[in-house]
Amino acid sequence: EITDVFAREIVDSRGNPTVEVDVRLADGSTGRAAVPSGASTGTREAVELRDADPDRFRGKGVRRAVAAVNDEISQAVKGLPAEAQSTVDRRMIELDGTENKGRLGANATLGVSLAVAKAAASSHEMPLYRYVGGTFAHVLPTPMINIINGGAHADNALDFQEFMIAPVGADSMAEAVRIGSEVFHTLRDLLREAGHNTNVGDEGGFAPNLATADEALEFIVKAIDKSGFRPGSDVALLLDPASSEFYRDGAYHYAGENRVRSVTEHADYLADLASRFPIVSIEDGMAQDDFEGWKYLTDAIGSTCQLVGDDVFCTNVRLLQDGIDRGIANSILVKVNQIGTLTEMLDTANTAFRAGYSVVMSHRSGETEDTTIADLAVALNCGQIKTGSLSRADRTAKYNQLIRIEEELGSESVYGGVKFFSGTS
Ligand code: PGA
Ligand code: ZN
Repeated sequence: EITDVFAREIVDSRGNPTVEVDVRLADGSTGRAAVPSGASTGTREAVELRDADPDRFRGKGVRRAVAAVNDEISQAVKGLPAEAQSTVDRRMIELDGTENKGRLGANATLGVSLAVAKAAASSHEMPLYRYVGGTFAHVLPTPMINIINGGAHADNALDFQEFMIAPVGADSMAEAVRIGSEVFHTLRDLLREAGHNTNVGDEGGFAPNLATADEALEFIVKAIDKSGFRPGSDVALLLDPASSEFYRDGAYHYAGENRVRSVTEHADYLADLASRFPIVSIEDGMAQDDFEGWKYLTDAIGSTCQLVGDDVFCTNVRLLQDGIDRGIANSILVKVNQIGTLTEMLDTANTAFRAGYSVVMSHRSGETEDTTIADLAVALNCGQIKTGSLSRADRTAKYNQLIRIEEELGSESVYGGVKFFSGTS
């Protein structure tokens, strides 16, 4: 039974305020969760409530969301069994009363939702992945490791936001992390030798001043090769152009390249990149409102490449169902704070699985030391996680948690590998 729910304002990896929630149960068990925050957010995401008080944190304070937890939400969920996750989440949704959680804030509801799950897991003396996923939770997700940052996540000219690698040929999480780390460090050497800076962006990847996706991908292929791995079969490439960020007036504006591509030119360019480089997955290849473009891209390469919907679906079951009906994408990125409760996230993920879409558990560009998503990826057996580079403690915390989970599962664990990617079989 939930006896205490308490929120505080802490800071995230960008030094911006965010919500942390502590939940205590009658048996003394506790759960704590911190809420992440995006920079290239989808327009249809649940609302992250910010104070807009210019005198604190440049208007980004979260005291209103904290107060919502400590007052209204606390009153509404106290006394409920901690195992009644969907009741807890439904109470908060009803209490909020809006379509997008704009009254109480998805940052308030998510903090409570996750902290309740963690307290319940603790009460049952189970790890979170086991409590949420049950007996069969055993797949360690292949990591999508973001080693070159651009777009809204870095101050460089790269139009695409994320250039990632996935150690698809690894046989364990620990090996995948080792491979990722070796390629990351080799890439640093190569960039430095070529006279580029090796400072990192928000998700811990390098942010060199390269002009084109081609250049970034060439550096990465070289780094994989020089590290002693085979590009493609050992280490695959992945993109998140975050295309909503540079889509305006029906076209894609590549500011770094100083050129505009039409919808079909942009999609054809992605298809061309996927044919010239060992790219297995492209996220947000098209903008969130460009449904025709999404359909065009899916018809063009959806049978051979995983096409992940982030901004276009916002972890929202209705947006996902609409996309399934339209035949766009073949995979969904799942970010718990895009929807604001664990129950709704699980509903979305299960809808994706039923439609044959793969699911990628994901962090946000603003993170904390909270590692809940590592457990949730294993709980879902989704086989894929996107949690940044092999640098910055806000990113490596998740990898380290996955290494611990793998150790705990021992011979029961299975490493995801390429078979979990849509479009690869
Ligand atoms: P965000 O970006 O967390 O800044 O929204 C991550 C992504 O686009 O996948
Ligand atoms: Zn994205």
